[in-house]
Amino acid sequence: MARLLHLNGPPGIGKSTIARRYADAHPGVLNCDIDVLRTMVGGWTADFAQAGALIRPAALAMIGAYLAQGRDVVLPQMLVDPAELARFERCAVDAGAHLVERWLMDTPDGAVRRFHGRGCGSDPDPWHERVRTIVTAQGGDDLLLRYHDSLRRLLADRPGAVVVPSVDGAVDETYRALVDSLP
Ligand SMILES: Nc1ncnc2c1ncn2[C@@H]1O[C@H](COP(=O)(O)OP(=O)(O)O)[C@@H](O)[C@H]1O
Ligand SMILES: [Mg+2]
Repeated sequence: MARLLHLNGPPGIGKSTIARRYADAHPGVLNCDIDVLRTMVGGWTADFAQAGALIRPAALAMIGAYLAQGRDVVLPQMLVDPAELARFERCAVDAGAHLVERWLMDTPDGAVRRFHGRGCGSDPDPWHERVRTIVTAQGGDDLLLRYHDSLRRLLADRPGAVVVPSVDGAVDETYRALVDSLP
């Protein structure tokens, strides 16, 4: 049975990094990074939220079609809203697949620190700068802490979800812990 491997967790925790790694090591697995798809929508920098809303049904259709071939999909995406999470779960089930939830988590303060450090290294990514500007405009660290709190509460309602600790700088260990946690 194909699986939709959903990597949830706060922004900057390493979901996209670990998903790329997973797909690299598992030929035939689709890494459906919706934040990358979003940048294919014209005007995404000007209206980030609209581009995200417009691309989501297309992402769901792509995930469903891919799973229906009997192939796995890894989905690195923060989902805080239970209704949105249910939408992805339904997509998997409708395609004859099942949802596997792994949550990359750190402490609230650790997650905030990592959000600010994301994409600031030797190869700065303009996408991260854009997201930082939006987060600052919407409440900055308070918003990030609210996300963290909402994620914690949602996690408590997801009996099948398994937390994979994401320790800053320990990408290999996080990836290994993810793979070891999978059935
Ligand atoms: N344990 C870890 N797992 C994954 N990425 C990590 C880890 N520690 C540090 N990083 C770095 O943190 C950043 C995470 O960015 P990204 O994968 O885009 O996060 P997300 O998709 O969760 O927002 C990357 O620059 C990555 O190299
Ligand atoms: Mg990401």
